[in-house]
Amino acid sequence: MASSRGEFSSRFGFVMAAAGSAVGLGNIWGFPTQAASNGGAAFLLVYLVLAFTLAYPALMAELIIGRHAHANAVNALRMVSSAPISRNIGATVGIIGFIVASLILSFYAIVAGWMIAFCLSSLAQLFGMQDFAQWLVSFGMPRNILFMCAFMVMTVAIISAGVRDGIERWSARLMPLLLVTLVLLVLYVFTLDGAMEGLKVYLLPDFDRALSPKLIIAAMGSAFFSLSLGVGTMLIYGSYISDEENLPVVGGLVTLVDISIAVLAGFLVLPAMYVALHNGVEIYTATGALISEDTLIFTVLPELFKTMGLAGIVVSFTFFFLMAIAALTSSISMLEVPVAYVIEEHGLGRKLAVCTIGAAIAVTSATILLNFETLFGLVIAFTTRYSQPLLGFMFCIYAGWVWHRDKVLQEVRKGSPEVEHSLFWKIWPGYVRFVCPVIILAIFAQSLWG
Ligand code: PHE
Repeated sequence: MASSRGEFSSRFGFVMAAAGSAVGLGNIWGFPTQAASNGGAAFLLVYLVLAFTLAYPALMAELIIGRHAHANAVNALRMVSSAPISRNIGATVGIIGFIVASLILSFYAIVAGWMIAFCLSSLAQLFGMQDFAQWLVSFGMPRNILFMCAFMVMTVAIISAGVRDGIERWSARLMPLLLVTLVLLVLYVFTLDGAMEGLKVYLLPDFDRALSPKLIIAAMGSAFFSLSLGVGTMLIYGSYISDEENLPVVGGLVTLVDISIAVLAGFLVLPAMYVALHNGVEIYTATGALISEDTLIFTVLPELFKTMGLAGIVVSFTFFFLMAIAALTSSISMLEVPVAYVIEEHGLGRKLAVCTIGAAIAVTSATILLNFETLFGLVIAFTTRYSQPLLGFMFCIYAGWVWHRDKVLQEVRKGSPEVEHSLFWKIWPGYVRFVCPVIILAIFAQSLWG
């Protein structure tokens, strides 16, 4: 079965693809601002602990189930169950997962479209096309639809080329580019006045806040969104890994890259905000909190770039280019979830499946844009706040309770017999059985009633 499907050609290819999925707007945009408003280094510390002790085990659950089944989530969850009821529930979880992945892509494509528009706006400025540059950064329906569609076309083009020629090739090109761009930006921002103050906010821990339930829950949500958990993305990437690969090691590498990029992005965004403050740009809200989310990216940073003259145009271009790449390597992983399902379950050719689903998602994005006030926030909350934790919970239940423990361990041992002597072997099965489900339910309960 595995031979007729795609497979990553190397460990590097897989790690780049999975890290590409994980590293996205969540890391470069979400993580640094959350750290800023939740106690700086204290948040960083809690995030690091949770990412390794909770998100990593949950990621392993998806990778192991995926590699075992060499199939999409619907089939994979069916395959690891023996009773008809758990087979049906498993298939339902897989189907909900691909719907949620498609919905995440439908809002992600809108935001990624803005990133491309802002990136091009810097170029337009460079060539003296001021009116066009202004149109590109103004919120308007033609611009929004045009760039959302442009982003979807790129995503569709990569995914239609398949696992090796599409996902792996492009992730292996774009991820190193992303890293270099990020490092260059960090180094440049460090040379500007005000940067050190931002660095202090980022690195000096406020431990009183580190232990607050609100912070722990925010850090956990960030870690799950950031590692692309719950919607079957990591499961489908796991299904393309060769049986010879050592899963705990590659899963660990992906987690490490994801966390490192989030931490590195903190070294860019926080200092940049204080450089902006130094240059006279407002960075606090009326309540005294740091400005975050869309206002930070689309108002504060562009204001900062404006105060920097020609250098600002180059930095602005580089920054939004970085954001667009991060979004693209994540969006391809979202699109692969429904595409793999339709190819494997309904026998459609890849190109037809990709174009049909891509078009359906673009229509959904356009619908969100046309009803922006009502739908945009709603879709984000529904997918990331509610669906991801609940689906992540179900994956842990399948890896910890439904699938036979001996079979799970047999899958882990495949390709790496020495794993039996590792800490992972001793701790993970219990973790994914008890700790992960309980904590995920706690986040869910908190987000509902907190
Ligand atoms: N991990 C991505 C980010 O940090 C988002 C994502 C969620 C990607 C779910 C795939 C699936 O932006």
